[in-house]
Amino acid sequence: MNKHVVLYKKLSPALMARLQAQVEVTLIERLDNDGLMRLRDALPGAHGLLGASLRLDAGLLDLAPKLEAVASVSVGVDNYDIDYLTRRRILLSNTPDVLTETTADTGFALILATARRVVELASLVRAGGWTGNIGPAHFGSDVHGKTLGIIGMGRIGEALAQRGHFGFGMPILYHSNSAKPAVEKRFDAQYRSLPELLQQADFVCLTLPLTAATEGLIGAKEFALMRPDSIFINISRGKVVNEPALIQALQQRQIRAAGLDVFEREPLPANSPLLQLDNLVATPHIGSATHETREAMARCAVDNLLAALAGQRPANLVNGDAWQR
Ligand code: DGY
Repeated sequence: MNKHVVLYKKLSPALMARLQAQVEVTLIERLDNDGLMRLRDALPGAHGLLGASLRLDAGLLDLAPKLEAVASVSVGVDNYDIDYLTRRRILLSNTPDVLTETTADTGFALILATARRVVELASLVRAGGWTGNIGPAHFGSDVHGKTLGIIGMGRIGEALAQRGHFGFGMPILYHSNSAKPAVEKRFDAQYRSLPELLQQADFVCLTLPLTAATEGLIGAKEFALMRPDSIFINISRGKVVNEPALIQALQQRQIRAAGLDVFEREPLPANSPLLQLDNLVATPHIGSATHETREAMARCAVDNLLAALAGQRPANLVNGDAWQR
């Protein structure tokens, strides 16, 4: 009997054909109310799930007694109850590596956009407001040679450090669970405690995953440590930051600006006070959103899922304890 996979993310024709050659597929194209109802209807027969951007909790997964594997098209796994999946021996896989460089590009786009006020000044030109030479009121601040502070020195943190160190001559400070001698050597980077990094960096960039330990890590106390000319960048997860505290820090110019790709609630509600701020650049969670990278992530997820359903250990298994063969 063919295994049954429920897809809640559309795949390219080539990947869809590959999947359909090996398993039965139900595709839920959109996760609107109708799509969620169809998902619930399909779960009882599902051996595998593949998708992203949906909180898969016990309430939903209890509907899927045959489930063997979940392949997330993301590196972040904060949408999954890993303990629950492990208890049920359901293999959870993710898509690291293939998105590292693209996500670091997004981080750097936000660094440049905030420091050089790209969005604000491009809007001024478009609105016909460029009527004379630009003066100090519209000047930005330099990026090259400034200190880049990275919180969470994983793969994406390293890719950001590489761009900053080799491309922009930036001294690199970092904070993470443990010191990383190889990173220190490669980028001439220096480890700092969190308060030290917040006090010393010109750019404070979050690249760490959302976990119980990192939720709300950056709040009023942390923004108070940052310098008034510093810039805050978040390409990890919105909930790592206390959003009201960030809004206050930006409103009161406790920090100069912020570049955010992730938010407490996504999509960002149109009435969010963040959108009233002229010192904020907001992008719609586009960290890995390029044609090439999203295809590579989907391919990786399909590989992981097919391996798991064939009884093999997926290359990117998240919950190793669920693997019992
Ligand atoms: C990831 O892969 O985790 C990206 O942030 C998309 O969710």
